[in-house]
Order: sequence, then structure tokens, then C-alpha cells
Amino acid sequence: MQRISVPDVQPFETEHIAAVRKAAPECMVLLKYDGSFPLSPCKLAAYGSGVRHTIKGGTGSGDVNVRAYTTVEQGLLAAGFELTSAAWLDAYDAVLGDAKTAFDEQQRKIAEKSGQRRSIFIAAMPEPEYIIPIEADGDTAIYVLSRNSGEGVDRQLVAGDIQLTETEVRDICTISAKYEKFMLVLNVGGMVDLTPVRDVQNILIMSQLGTPTGDALADVLCGKAYPSGKLTMTWAPIENYPSTLGFGAFNDTRYTEGVFVGYRYFDTFAAAHTYPFGYGLGYTTFAYNALSFRADEQAVTVTVEVRNTGKYAGKEVMQLYYSAPDGKLSKPAKELAAFAKTQELQSGESQTLTLSFSTEQMASYNAQQAAYILEPGVYDILLGTDADHVCSCGRIVLYDEVTTQQLYNVGGTPDFDDLKPTNAKQPLDAAGAVCLDKTKFVTMKVDYAAKPVEYQGIRGTWEDVKSGKLSLEAFVGGLSNEQLAYLCIGNYKDVAEGGNVLEVIGNASTHIAGAAGETTNRLTELGIPALTMPDGPAGLRLSTEYVVRNGNAVSLYSSFNPTHRKATEPGEQVYYQYCIAIPIGTALAQTWNLEVVRACGSLVGEEMEMFGTNLWLAPAMNIYRSPLCGRNFEYYSEDPLVTGLTAAAVTEGIQAHRGCAATIKHFCCNNQETNRRDSNSILSERALREIYLKGFEICVHKAHPHCVMSSYNLINGVHANNRRCLLTDVLRDEWGFEGFVMTDWLSTIDLPGPEPEYPIASAGGCIQAGNDMMMPGLPCDFEDIMDALANETHPYHLTRAQLQQDALRILKVIEKLA
Ligand code: BGC
Repeated sequence: MQRISVPDVQPFETEHIAAVRKAAPECMVLLKYDGSFPLSPCKLAAYGSGVRHTIKGGTGSGDVNVRAYTTVEQGLLAAGFELTSAAWLDAYDAVLGDAKTAFDEQQRKIAEKSGQRRSIFIAAMPEPEYIIPIEADGDTAIYVLSRNSGEGVDRQLVAGDIQLTETEVRDICTISAKYEKFMLVLNVGGMVDLTPVRDVQNILIMSQLGTPTGDALADVLCGKAYPSGKLTMTWAPIENYPSTLGFGAFNDTRYTEGVFVGYRYFDTFAAAHTYPFGYGLGYTTFAYNALSFRADEQAVTVTVEVRNTGKYAGKEVMQLYYSAPDGKLSKPAKELAAFAKTQELQSGESQTLTLSFSTEQMASYNAQQAAYILEPGVYDILLGTDADHVCSCGRIVLYDEVTTQQLYNVGGTPDFDDLKPTNAKQPLDAAGAVCLDKTKFVTMKVDYAAKPVEYQGIRGTWEDVKSGKLSLEAFVGGLSNEQLAYLCIGNYKDVAEGGNVLEVIGNASTHIAGAAGETTNRLTELGIPALTMPDGPAGLRLSTEYVVRNGNAVSLYSSFNPTHRKATEPGEQVYYQYCIAIPIGTALAQTWNLEVVRACGSLVGEEMEMFGTNLWLAPAMNIYRSPLCGRNFEYYSEDPLVTGLTAAAVTEGIQAHRGCAATIKHFCCNNQETNRRDSNSILSERALREIYLKGFEICVHKAHPHCVMSSYNLINGVHANNRRCLLTDVLRDEWGFEGFVMTDWLSTIDLPGPEPEYPIASAGGCIQAGNDMMMPGLPCDFEDIMDALANETHPYHLTRAQLQQDALRILKVIEKLA
């Protein structure tokens, strides 16, 4: 572990910023292109909120405390552009300042009226309306439109958030007509409804790219780099998403669309959209040609030659989908099965890509049989460059139903039937299709865990375990119930009666300043080391400055007031932790380049190793059920495959570093921020398994993350962290997860706010479910666990064996990492 005692820029910062800047163009998605870009640095009229007030990433626990980041204005100036719109930008500063003052006042009044403290999470301020003349010089212009969102609050269905304001529409159209060359640049973490401006010449999603955001845009505008990202969600007018109606209901949100999420809905129901899933242009063009198709009971493999047919260098992403036949279950029109991105191809150059997936990936979950099944019929394999542009490259026929996995239903039953298309798919012609043999498939069956047995043991120390004198099981057997309980609770400080428990949020680690949590320090007399837990996912969220007092790292900034620096004591040495912000989750996924994603994860891993911290509270990987979810920017996609593979690549990047591991979150169905602690996601077993669990399953299988964070919400009436069927039967028995599960922060207490409809999650219930650790830890967690052990009438009565089992899982991770 390194303590940096000078405030100067460190070599690692320069290196990491350069690496992110190089990767960032792959995150950008070019939505419209007329050939007039890139340009040499020139006189440029730069308008819009994001020029000077560029957003590098969203707000909340996913925000990274950086030394500085480049705005678009700074990036353009550094690249040699002469900005002619300074007067507009100055005028906008004044408009924004006034709007913010009014907004803060309005928020204060709302809080006062409801009799509550102002929430730590407040909605992003919608863009204001204003009139500033459009009169900057030159024949070239950009308009940078930005949006912010964050933890604890959903996006709003209003102009200035999901919709464009009248000012934005008017100005963008005026600028597009006035200047010869024009690009609309979107500095957004999620969808904005572009319908009123979709006719402008060029549209680029810059996204939110962390520390070098403005530099990366300049690189792309002047052709030092080119955009090669693709959308990981369908962009459409908000009213066209099936999830919009009823989104963010306070207590119960019904996922009535079932598996028809994102393009699975838009394709199947022929609903209108602005840009399809998987879509993105480049400065160049590509042609492709399928070379071969192979299929058997194990795998489907396609090779394709991709050629750069334009005049610039570029990269193309090929996507392989399947269309499964309707049967007992209605199937989406198509579902993504594999993807691959070319290397950089120069004009005229070509590359052969191989896309492959396992045949059983095409199975659907039938709750009536509690099984994944491949239904009989013809499966069409579709190759293309986005969900709208595909063509058939092979067919498979199955004459009998195949059960690929025999499981059991874990989710509970909703009070509705999932949405169903009215017309079944037309069966396809089997001529020429590869015929698969039912008997050559193997059905996966699961041994669901038996009750844990109690370990007997001898009192020993961690040193005994490390030296091999004592097995971990025997060590656990020698721990008292109190010690076991402490192990299963984060390192809580005894908050005095009446103390503010919220103070611990974002700052509950004694070893690493600004880390959100830490495992217990109460067993240090036995020599058990503590693991520290900094937040993510857009980099490492630490405190930038700290001092060491009595061996503890003490942050000089409160996580709620990052601008107020606390005083140091005379002679005290200040240490610095300036981490780099990497692109937000959405931007990483938009690369469709798992190598780039892995490399970004590895940058964070390097910083973790250097600052001596262990468990990153990321990647975050909930599904974009709706563009309205306030935390989508931290997540990856509406598609589980893109989600799972991206999360796996990040996890691999992190876990390649000594002592570092990933915590995939929020498991699961945490798809809205409104009342996120107590909202109940109501959904079918099929949607749960095929959409909301699938990404986690892929990540666990591929990358073996050491930790999982359960989500706050309930699933069909039971809190995720109290659901044994999910945390033990699915996660461990079906998928083979070997690490430990922690709660999301302060899941087990009632916080100020409206009375929750459902009971608060119980710490005893967590232990029983296999949610091994309560975070960040509270005295009431300890009391509840001890009560659950002692008291047979406790709703989640615990045995010592159950508590031992959870503690053992935690110790196994500590053994690996510390
Ligand atoms: C968030 C988590 C985060 C944790 C610790 C919670 O409020 O939901 O994503 O990791 O706080 O900061």
C-alpha cells in the first residue's frame, strides 16, 4: 500500500488518463453522419450546456472524486480550435447560476413542507428555458447537450430531462440551419428523446467519459480518433417503451412486459423507435459477407468477412442473433447470441471474425415445467450490424423438445400474465436447416444444498489458518457466536443513541479514507485482517485527502460535502488519493469491445492495488428496463448478454490484481430508484430468469467475482437479501458462486421518509438466506442475529451452523485477498 504525501500529479495519473483517452472513442456512438467530419482545428461555434458544464459521470455513490477533468471547452481549446461562442457560453453561465439558485430554494421548500430533512439524493435539475442569441462566427458549429442523473432518484419525464426543452429544440434547429457543418453532441448517461431534432446533419453520443471527456471529444472531432461504439439500448420516444406506464410506482412495480424488454419488445411488437439496439455508424463504411455456418448440439459458429469500404479507418461490430420458434412460449423476434468487434481496419482492409455461442443458449424458461427448454421448430440464425439490420445466415431444426436445465421456480408468482404477442410467429421452412438430435443434449440437473452441518473446532488464530495448522472449518468451529456474528457484519462503529447513522454512508472504512465500508475489525486480536470496500463503477471512489490518526485513515472531506475541507491538526501529514474517472458503465458497454472494457477494469485494479484496497463495489449491472431509471448510467444494457459479458470483462480486469476483487451489484431487479429500499418488483419467473438474472449468471460463470451485493428492493413481496432461493439456490447451487454476498448499505433499518408498505429486511433473514454480510453494519444487526440464534420464535430463527456457514464464506474471501 502506498501513501502519497505530495499533492503533485503522479505518473500513474498521467498514464491512466492517456489510456482512458485512447479507449474513449470506442464508447462514442455516431447516430447520424453526413461526411463533413472530422475537421482540422478551426474557428468553431460551440453551444449548449455541455460545452463548459460537461458531465464526466453521474451522481451518488458512483461518482469519482477526481483532481480535475477536461470539459469540452478545455478539450477543444487544447486541440487548437478557436471558439467563437464565448459570449454565448458566458450568458449561459449566468442563466444556469440563476436556475440553480431557484431550484435549490424550491427543493428546500419541498423538504420543509413535507417535514423531512432534505434528502441526500435529489433529482438532477432539469435544463432551464432561456433565450441567448445564436450569433457566433464561423461556418462550423457543435451543440453539446448534457443530462445528469444519479442514485436515489429516477429521471423525469419532462422537458429538460428525457425530453428536449423548447430552447434546445429551437437552438439546435437554428444552428443546424445557420452553419454549414454541424454536429449535435450528446453528453448523456442515457436516452433522450431526439424526435424533434433527428433531422440534423450529424449526431454523436459522446456519453460521459470520465477524466479525459473533453479531450476525447476533441480527438474525435479532429480525426485523431474515430467513434466506433454501438447502442446498448433501443432509443425511442419514451411513451413507446412498455415499461413507461406504471414505471416508478412507489410500492409495487409490475413488470408486465415479461421478457419483452428493449429490442425484444420493439422488434416483436413492431413499435416505433428512433435508433435500434446495436446501432452505430463510423466515419467510414463497412460491408460484410458470411463465410461459413456450423451448428451442432454444443455450439453454433459463424464466420464473417468484414471489409472497410469507406475512406477512413474504423472498427465494425458484428452481431449474431437467433429467432426461436413460438411454441408453448412466445418468443421475441430475435435475441442477441454473440458479438465481435474488428480490429482497426484501414480503408479497403478486411478481417474475418468468428462468432460462436452455445446451442443451449437459445432455450427459454418454462415456469410450468420449471425448466429451460428448446422447443421444436426452426431456429433462424441472423447476422447483422444492429437489431434492425440482419439477415439469415443459417437455420437449425429440432423435431423434439429438449430440456436443457431442470430447475425449480424461485421467484414467486405475479398477479398478472406477461404480455404476449397476439400472433404467433410464422413457422420457417426447414429446408437446408441443420437438424439437431434431442438425444445428444445433456440436461443439467442441480443438487440443491443440504442443511449446513455445524463445525466443531478448536480455538485458534488466523496465523494458525495461514500456516496450515488449522483448517478454516476448524477455525470457524472454534469461534464464539458473538465472533461469528461480528464477522457477518461490516465494521460498524457503535453509533451513540440518537447518533446519525447516515454519517456512515460513503465513509465507513477505518483503513481507507472515503471507502464505503470494511469488514469487521473486532476480531483483530485473532489476527483476522479487514477488507476495505471502495465504491465504483466509474473508477475508484476514495477521499482525495486524508490524515492518519491513531492508525486510522481519516478523510478531510465528508462524503456529503466534498467541497468543505476539514482542518488538520498541527504537524499532521496529509496524504492524497487522486483516482481517475473511467467512462461510465453505459459508455463502456457501448464499446462492444471486451478487451477495452477489461483494460479499463484493470486500470481501476491498479489503483486499488496501489492504495491498498480490496473489494470494489462494482460493476453495477442491472438491466435497463426503462430509460427512466436514475442509475442506468452505471449499468450496461437492456440486453442480458451484453450486460453479463461487459460485467465479466470488468471483473476480470479487477481480479487480475493482487488482493483485489469485484462485487457485482445490485442482485437483482433493482430497476428503479424511486423508493428503491422498499419497492416491490413484481415479475414472472420467466422474466426473472431470462432477463434479470441472466447477466449475473453469465458474469459468475465467466469471471468468478468474489462478491455479490444484494439489492434493497423486494421481489414478489420478499426482500432480495432475505431470499434464500436466489442467494443460495440460484447463485450458489445453480451457478456455482463461491464468494460472499453483502447487503446494500443500511438495508436493515428504517430510514426517515414515508412509512414503508413492506416490513424492513431482517439481519437474521439475511443470514438464513445466505446474504452473508450486513453492510455497512449496525448495532441492530448484531442484536438481531443474536436474537435469531437464541430465540425460536424469531421469524428467521438461526442455527449456529447457518451462521458458521456465512462466516466461513467471508473468511474464504479474506484468506484469498488479504
Ligand atoms: C448504493 C450502492 C453503493 C453503497 C455504498 C448504496 O446506497 O446503492 O451501490 O455501493 O451505497 O456506497
